[in-house]
Amino acid sequence: MEKAPPLVAIYPGSFDPITNGHLDLVERGSKLFSRLIVAILRNDSKEPLFTVEERMEMLGEVLQNYANVEVDSFDGLLVDYAASQQATVLLRGIRAISDYEFELTRALMNRRLRPEIETVFMMSGEAYSFISSRLVKEVISLGGNISGLVPHSVELRLRKRLGNTNAIGT
Ligand code: PNS
Repeated sequence: MEKAPPLVAIYPGSFDPITNGHLDLVERGSKLFSRLIVAILRNDSKEPLFTVEERMEMLGEVLQNYANVEVDSFDGLLVDYAASQQATVLLRGIRAISDYEFELTRALMNRRLRPEIETVFMMSGEAYSFISSRLVKEVISLGGNISGLVPHSVELRLRKRLGNTNAIGT
């Protein structure tokens, strides 16, 4: 039997900003793949809170201790970017059944575009299944406490950006 080659995976997303749910996925993904590239979409139609460069900086800070994890950004089709990195896996997290439909259609479209690239889904850790970047931004902008939902350095950046000094978590 042929030996399986070392797997390179892309973990794509908006990461506006990275949450502890994303971080949990990176942690677990870094053990499955020989190289894991966390890639931020550049041409996003959503109005982001942080620029791609700021998000790359935040990811770099938070992920610096993972030897096989890299941070990058991409434009255009995800599967073309994956191929340019010799990646054969797209890693995505699923929190609840509501994520499934969106992810299924994307996975099938990506497979149609490049059948040699496989989408791998990982279930969110149960402690993180309700966390989203959108909800974190909403809560902090309304003065709520988000400690434990995002890395501390990200929480500080959110406060700075949103001018919110309430409910600082330690
Ligand atoms: O964190 P998000 O916003 O859920 O990430 C969405 C992302 C970046 C994975 C998705 O928008 C994407 O893959 N965009 C690339 C464009 C693309 O390849 N589209 C066609 C295939 S579905």
